[in-house]
Amino acid sequence: MTIYNLGSINADLVYRVPHLPAPGETISTTEISKGLGGKGANMSVAAARAAARVVHIGAVGPDGAWAVDRLMEYGVDTRRIATLPEMTGHAVIAVDDAGENTILLHGGANTALREADLAEALEPSREGDFFLFQNETTCQREAAEIASRQGLRVAYAAAPFDAAAVQAVMPLLDLLVLNSVEGAQLEEATGLAPEALPVRDVVVTLGADGCRWIETDSGTSRHFPAIPVVPVDTTGAGDTFTGYLLAGLDRGLPMAQALVLAQRAAALMVTRHGTADVIPDLKEVQDLRF
Ligand code: RIB
Ligand code: NA
Repeated sequence: MTIYNLGSINADLVYRVPHLPAPGETISTTEISKGLGGKGANMSVAAARAAARVVHIGAVGPDGAWAVDRLMEYGVDTRRIATLPEMTGHAVIAVDDAGENTILLHGGANTALREADLAEALEPSREGDFFLFQNETTCQREAAEIASRQGLRVAYAAAPFDAAAVQAVMPLLDLLVLNSVEGAQLEEATGLAPEALPVRDVVVTLGADGCRWIETDSGTSRHFPAIPVVPVDTTGAGDTFTGYLLAGLDRGLPMAQALVLAQRAAALMVTRHGTADVIPDLKEVQDLRF
């Protein structure tokens, strides 16, 4: 089957710093690198590296041909990526010695996407294909509605978190992936704990504590411990998790197995500096020993 992923494409400017800056503080960086990123692009690359067929839906600016080329090199179908007049999205990322990050995001072309740009994007899809999206583009709800009508399985990673956006798409979702902070924010906004959400499968990622899968129909919740690794850079690990999870489900793995695969990929990812360009392939993930 195919995963249609509506998502952001960014140039990631990554600076390494001894610690994350406090308000008003000036810090010298020890290293700089530029690469492909964006939560959407990271998920597409992860799913493609996990051997899934992935169609990326999104936009770059006139300065973004390199990003499209790179997605293509990683095996992603880029024919549904529009080139818009706005500049390509970018992220200024600081990563500290503990592997934690802060991100400044400029949406650019990602947030200039309009419904007309998506008109035919989902046309070749078939029932049972996946539609995946996150929160760094416009038109999520419109696209999710089309996908749902066409019988696609709709999966959403609620990052960066926006309570109103989650609530607007909730009735369309088959799978919701969110981290524990986002889960708490959603509970605050809706009064609903993850187990009470009207979405069949909910996955809550817990960082070093692993993840939790909730089947809301039966009310069962299963915990999956994380693979212990020393974090170097957590940037993109969540996106890698989601991309691998979708790829696993898309090729028919049961949820528990897809989650274990996703956790292995995310574990490898936190041991690496960088985002889309360092996402491991399926063989590396399967060969991981710990
Ligand atoms: O989740 C990591 C990503 O967030 C980065 O690649 C950056 O571009 C931002 O979108
Ligand atoms: Na990383």
